[in-house]
Amino acid sequence: MVICIPSGITEVEMRAVKESAERVNGKEVYLIHEPMAAAIGIGLDIMKPKGNMIVDIGGGTTEIAVIALGGIVVDRSVKIAGDVFTNDIINYMRTQHNLFIGERTAERIKIECGSATDELDNPPENLEIQGRDLLSGKPKQIVVSFREVAKALDKSIVRIEEAVMETLSQTPPELASDIYNSGIYLAGGGAMLRGLDQRLSSKTDLPVYIAEDPLRAVVRGTGIALKHLAAYKTVLIQ
Ligand SMILES: Nc1ncnc2c1ncn2[C@@H]1O[C@H](COP(=O)(O)OP(=O)(O)OP(=O)(O)O)[C@@H](O)[C@H]1O
Ligand SMILES: [Mg+2]
Repeated sequence: MVICIPSGITEVEMRAVKESAERVNGKEVYLIHEPMAAAIGIGLDIMKPKGNMIVDIGGGTTEIAVIALGGIVVDRSVKIAGDVFTNDIINYMRTQHNLFIGERTAERIKIECGSATDELDNPPENLEIQGRDLLSGKPKQIVVSFREVAKALDKSIVRIEEAVMETLSQTPPELASDIYNSGIYLAGGGAMLRGLDQRLSSKTDLPVYIAEDPLRAVVRGTGIALKHLAAYKTVLIQ
């Protein structure tokens, strides 16, 4: 059994994961750090003496890691990710439009008309959304544009940009030069937010690539490690 774990996990938490696996009869249990699994899932050759940077934007956390020679060299985890984006949209609607919307509506706005920037080449169409007017108490409808969503998400995106910049500044120079050439890879559901690649690219002056099927990069990599246990033995934690 191979189980992926966040890179910031403690020893105690790791043991708890392993014990749960053994309790359901896992005979041979290995753990793998999620950024490492994402890199494998993206198809990068993680064993090479070459630096790669992965940014995995999930629901709860954004994990940033520099990987080389089968190991994580620098990593950083911030609690700003998809769930915070959704909350940002709820707060924005409340303060800017006196409109109270639910989480499901906010999530829909994020996916259908979300953006990390107000300059998109292929902007999504405006979205009609309904909620409750906070002043009158009556149901109300407004039209949302991606530009407004970009405004709502800006503060959170800035936090992610800062975390990426800090990670880059802690990266050893030889690996930094690799990343200069190979760019940054985005994984996780948050990677699908429109314009996030563009924004990170202009902040870092690096090429930014979105993993194919970013929602499944981590689980795909975990599956590859399980299938080729011997080849990935050094990146698996026993
Ligand atoms: N098209 C989309 N645009 C923006 N966000 C999206 C899109 N599709 C999914 N998401 C968001 O991606 C997040 C889930 O991503 P993912 O499955 O990578 O997280 P996770 O691995 O479960 O969380 P974590 O890594 O924090 O434990 C959710 O917040 C979801 O709203
Ligand atoms: Mg994840």
